Amino acid sequence: MSNINIAIDGPAGAGKSSVSKEIANILGYIYIDTGALYRAIAYYTYSKGVEDFSDTKVVELLDEIDIQLRYIDNVQRVFVNGLDVSDYIRTPNISLGASKVSAIPEVRSFLLCLQRDIAESNNIIMDGRDIGTVVLPNADLKIFLTASAEERANRRYNQIKDTPNCPCWEEILEDINQRDYNDTHREIAPLKRSDDAILLDTTNMNQDETIAHILSLIREIA
Ligand code: DC
Repeated sequence: MSNINIAIDGPAGAGKSSVSKEIANILGYIYIDTGALYRAIAYYTYSKGVEDFSDTKVVELLDEIDIQLRYIDNVQRVFVNGLDVSDYIRTPNISLGASKVSAIPEVRSFLLCLQRDIAESNNIIMDGRDIGTVVLPNADLKIFLTASAEERANRRYNQIKDTPNCPCWEEILEDINQRDYNDTHREIAPLKRSDDAILLDTTNMNQDETIAHILSLIREIA
C-alpha cells in the first residue's frame, strides 16, 4: 500500500499540533508541523532587521534562505541555513510575523515543494492551514480541527500562565482573533475547510477524546 497522508487544518490554538504529534507517535508516522516553516521565515527575516515583515523585503531574502526539517529523537526541528531555530520561533512577535509572511504568495510557493516532498515518501500527519486544500489535495484523510476562540484562549492561557511575562487572557484572545482574521482573509491559500474534510469541533472535547476520535477515523482508511 502507498504512503498514508493525513491532513489536519484549523485555526491557531485548536490543538492541531499536540493532537497530531501524539497520533504520529502512536502510529509511527512522521509529524510535520508546517507552521514552523512560516515561523522560521519570519524569524530569519526579523533577524535581518525586517521588523515589519514587508512583502518586498521578505521576498528578497528568500533567495538566501535554505530551510530543512530534520527529526531528532522523533521530534521535528527546523533549520535555516544549517542553524536550528526551533527554540526561537514561538514568541508572540514571530507568531504575528509568521501570519504576515504566510500571506505572501512567493513564500507559499517557496515552501510548497518542501512540504510535498516529505509527504511523498513517508506515512505522515501534516498540520497547517492549507494542507487539505492546497498542499495535499489528495490526502487519504482530511480533518478540519476547530474550537471557539474563547476556548482556544483558555487552553493557551493554561499552557503559559506560569511563565514569566505571560500575557493576560484578553491579550491572548485578541491575538487569536487577529491571527484568525489574517489567516482567513488572505488572498492566497486562506484558512478554510476543504469540501471533503471532516469538521471536528473540539470546544467541548478534551485532548484524549479528540485523539481517540481521529484514531478511529484513521483506522477506517489505513
Ligand atoms: O500553526 P502555527 O500557529 O505555528 O502557524 C503560524 C502561522 O503560519 C499562522 O498564522 C498561519 C501560517 N501558516 C499557514 O499560512 N499555512 C500553513 N500551512 C501553516 C501555517
